[in-house]
Amino acid sequence: MNPNPRHTRIVGTGSYLPARRLSNADLVRQLAAQGVETSDEWIVERTGIRARHFVDDGVNASDLAVHAARHALEAAGCRAEDVDLIIVATSTPDMVFPSTAAIVQRKLGVHGCPAFDVQAVCSGFVYALTVADAMIRTGSARSALVIGAEVFSRILDFNDRGTCVLFGDGAGAVLLRASDTPGILATDLHADGRHVDILCVPGTVSGGKVLGDPLLKMDGQAVFKLAVGVLESTARAVLEKAGRSTEQMDWLIPHQANIRIMQATARKLKLPLDKVIVTVDAHGNTSAASIPLALDVAVRDGRIRPGHCVMLQGVGGGFTWGSVLLDF
Ligand code: UT7
Repeated sequence: MNPNPRHTRIVGTGSYLPARRLSNADLVRQLAAQGVETSDEWIVERTGIRARHFVDDGVNASDLAVHAARHALEAAGCRAEDVDLIIVATSTPDMVFPSTAAIVQRKLGVHGCPAFDVQAVCSGFVYALTVADAMIRTGSARSALVIGAEVFSRILDFNDRGTCVLFGDGAGAVLLRASDTPGILATDLHADGRHVDILCVPGTVSGGKVLGDPLLKMDGQAVFKLAVGVLESTARAVLEKAGRSTEQMDWLIPHQANIRIMQATARKLKLPLDKVIVTVDAHGNTSAASIPLALDVAVRDGRIRPGHCVMLQGVGGGFTWGSVLLDF
């Protein structure tokens, strides 16, 4: 076998949603009981979201991540002890430290391989995939578990109707393997720290106390406008790097935040809407978990098949954004 394979392939996908599902009607009722007014109609019209899943007390991001990772390992026919890199993309880690990836490693019953978290909010999965791809192509790892796992229900302000109806919990994972044939074709990552304030959880822990506000704040319109612009530019950039055209794409898997952002991106790229994988209706916005969750859904229902050209796109807090283009 070639000791320095030049490529990275996805060889297994997995995902996991906590059992507690809240339809818009369930959430509307719950919020009404505490004096917060919203409606199924508003949520569907403005976002495309119809339901989301929330964890029960005591369930953490690592628990969701481990389920998703096991499904990906099973799909690839790989044992956890044969994985030599674990990266978890999350903004809702189990603890301040150690990393959720280290906790996942322990729960998978293995030890020794490097394990660390990547924090790029809703772009976390494409960031983590890009790092793992680079480590595989340089020979630092031959197989890698890349996981997006979030429990955003823990950081939502249920008195802020502008944000609490948008997010959900879940996890998605891929198993990557070094290969002589191309899988990941090109990657494109960006951040613009000038926009730190438009999407943030402006709290921290200091001296045994929470300082600042530990709940999510978002200027939705500012995020919306930036997202629509950058998703088109990063799509074009990653296609150019890979020497591919939009016509050669079989599927677009955008970050699942708002159906209107996805529709706008598809329109700008002149991509038919039936080539866009949409799970925001069923999952809400699961931040770093949204892309691998959507990928796994579409692989398991048979839409994404071996050889298909797929673009993954993340966008979110930081402000961060990026794309990964791959042959599945
Ligand atoms: O994951 C990271 C990336 N995040 C995103 O991409 C999110 C991007 N932003 C968005 O998706 C949209 O901006 C939102 C869905 C967050 C908001 O949609 P919008 O069309 O920008 O609505 P808006 O914030 O301009 O609010 C319109 C109206 C306001 O009322 P007035 O001022 O027009 O009377 C809000 O108070 O809708 C009201 N509103 C609601 N009404 C019922 C806001 N939230 C709700 C709600 N139910 N839940």
